[in-house]
Amino acid sequence: MSGPGNRAQWASNLGFLLAAAGSAVGLGNIWKFPGKAYEGGGGAFILIYIAIIALVGATVMLAEFIIGRATQKNAVGAFCQLRPAWKWVGGMGIFTGFIILCYYSHVGGWVLYYLCGYLTDAAAISADPTAYFYRMLGVGSGFPWGGAVLFPLLFAALTVFVVVKGVAGGIERLNKVAMPLLFLLLILLMVRAVTLPGAMDGLRYMLQPDFSLLTWNDVLVALGQAFFSLSLGMGIMCTYGSYLSREENLGRNVGIICTLDTLVAVLAGFTVIPAVFATLSASGVGKGAGFVFTAMPGVFQAMPGGVFWAILFYLLLFFAALTSSISLLEGTVAYLTEQRGFSRKRASLVLGVILFGIGLIYTLSQGHADIHGIWLDKNGISYPIFGDMLEFLTDRLLLPLGGLLFCIFVGWVWGTKNGIAEVRQGGRFRFPLAGLWSLLVRFVAPAAIACILIAGIVFGVTLS
Ligand code: PFF
Repeated sequence: MSGPGNRAQWASNLGFLLAAAGSAVGLGNIWKFPGKAYEGGGGAFILIYIAIIALVGATVMLAEFIIGRATQKNAVGAFCQLRPAWKWVGGMGIFTGFIILCYYSHVGGWVLYYLCGYLTDAAAISADPTAYFYRMLGVGSGFPWGGAVLFPLLFAALTVFVVVKGVAGGIERLNKVAMPLLFLLLILLMVRAVTLPGAMDGLRYMLQPDFSLLTWNDVLVALGQAFFSLSLGMGIMCTYGSYLSREENLGRNVGIICTLDTLVAVLAGFTVIPAVFATLSASGVGKGAGFVFTAMPGVFQAMPGGVFWAILFYLLLFFAALTSSISLLEGTVAYLTEQRGFSRKRASLVLGVILFGIGLIYTLSQGHADIHGIWLDKNGISYPIFGDMLEFLTDRLLLPLGGLLFCIFVGWVWGTKNGIAEVRQGGRFRFPLAGLWSLLVRFVAPAAIACILIAGIVFGVTLS
């Protein structure tokens, strides 16, 4: 469907809601959140996380939607129209989103690799999950064609395919199917996990807030996680908001999207942690990509009918990753088509090739000796520095910086009066929290984000 001036628009508000929730709900919810919640004392972390989402996350999301819908433009175009001197903020956001996409889509390829692995030869994974993971990355097993090339290429091609099909015809259509399926899979998996013998200890841990385990670092971790999880700070939500008609209520949409994203993260926590407690003991809980690919196969191996549940789990991860990666690509494609005159197809294909190339170095740097060897230190120990570098640059620096600048722009430069008027649409919609939102976007959110930045850079607090 096309809007005024033939600009793409969502076909329905439900389509927009599912697409924005699809962007938010991703790998971050399913593998990052449970591990962080565990480390942060379970229930205590979850409570703090929910408070941060409500106060900071929802505030920034509304700011991004407002800028996008007010201008009906991509992140750069939006700033160009409102205050051209600020267009670099949109450009920085698009750059950040694209860099995240480069590694995110490769991890999506690993998910496909495991899905295919469970469908064809589950015994090979169960025999030694850790060895299987490193084999996929090419450690000691020659060039990893499957893990670094074939499956990431397939995942990138799927992402490009959906984006080429357009906003309503591709992104909205996929999300309308993938998101309900994702919820269904998650509920099935959660019921299975909490009914495993021994799962109650894990569930109790996640439900009983133990504030003595919560540190200031955990609060910062929750803040960083909230940003990543809600897809904020990159202008992606600005772009998605720009495809929304003025007939829709922005405030209510923000409430629904934040609730859905948080619900999925918490449900994933109530699935993964009890399952790990029941099968591997609490010491099996880990963080990061490796956790999903090394610990979870151990969980499935230890439960009856594990292969079936593993297939459902990786399918869940696949949908979550795909709906997020298409939003990351759409942010850059919208810029190239609207600001640089590219066709949608050409923009998507060119970006697809570049992201695959950069992502390839990311995957190889995780394990392959030749490329890994470039960064061998004098003791012969190698580090996946390229991957670390990308994640540091995006998660710790550019993402919070983008969010901070969005808040300053809406709160102080363009002005909250304009922002509130965009939500109210001349009185069509009520915005009872307008006063609170102004306060949050001008003071609370920037201060909180500045804390993440300073803590991450100056004190080296680990946020991932
Ligand atoms: N929100 C996604 C997740 O939780 O996995 C990741 C993501 C998607 C981050 C889109 C940023 C973005 F623009």
